[in-house]
Amino acid sequence: MLRRIRHNWRPEKGQPLTELDKKVLYYQNKGCLVPSRRLIKTPEQIEGIRRSGVVNTGVLDLVEKEIKAGMSTAEIDRLVYDYTVSHGAIPAPLNYEGFPKSVCTSINEVVCHGIPSEEEILEEGDIINVDVSTILDGYYSDASRMFIIGQTTPEKEKLVRVAKECLQIGMEAARPFGFVGDIGHAIQKHAERNGFSVVRDLCGHGVGLEFHEDPDVEHFGKKGTGMLLVPGMVFTIEPMINMGTYRVFVDEEDGWTVVTEDELPSAQWEHTFVMTEDGLEILTY
Ligand code: MF3
Ligand code: CO
Repeated sequence: MLRRIRHNWRPEKGQPLTELDKKVLYYQNKGCLVPSRRLIKTPEQIEGIRRSGVVNTGVLDLVEKEIKAGMSTAEIDRLVYDYTVSHGAIPAPLNYEGFPKSVCTSINEVVCHGIPSEEEILEEGDIINVDVSTILDGYYSDASRMFIIGQTTPEKEKLVRVAKECLQIGMEAARPFGFVGDIGHAIQKHAERNGFSVVRDLCGHGVGLEFHEDPDVEHFGKKGTGMLLVPGMVFTIEPMINMGTYRVFVDEEDGWTVVTEDELPSAQWEHTFVMTEDGLEILTY
């Protein structure tokens, strides 16, 4: 049988193999998907992403302080733009593949990539995801939180809580020299045990030197599958958890807004992480 091995990992030419080379090559020769060397960030790059993450967290803290019923999502967009630019950074979504605003605002049945608008006014009982991504000195960070506007139903409250637990559980499932699939497996188990579903069509991603890098971080799946997790990798985990079906569609009018097929609510939390020698560290606290 022919086994196709993707030779992503190339040791430095003319250099003796390092301990890391030997370890990664062992997995690669077994047929595992391993990262390319450029996905392993240097300490300097990690510090750059961390500084970007400080601005990103400042944006989310500001939104958390200001968000309330009666506010338009366009006002949230202005807060994000003004804060980011006044801190010497750039909102990563702005003009990204034609996205027209500085932040994604996704209310209730909107799963992600909602576009801020003057016409969209937050109402009591809404749940909203605010997804903020920042470029500082060329380094990208990416995180999102849910906000509950006033009082909502117990079901929506549970959805928001379980989605947050999924992020935490996914984070804890990621071990150095484990696999990306370990994360998705843990998240799916927790979501489904609580009667919810996991969106399949969108995933977390490598991040740092670009907005979206390898690997894809799926929030469902099997342990021991997907890319090998190597210290120095930087990526997001951002589970989208639905109250009803996991199926989603993209709004044809704007080409961005992702909505649940049954129009039941969806919730999402996201952080940017670096893999260390003893597990994930959050870069967007
Ligand atoms: N922040 C989103 C993510 O987590 C990406 C949004 S792309 C945009 O990957 F263009 F909609 F901003
Ligand atoms: Co992301």
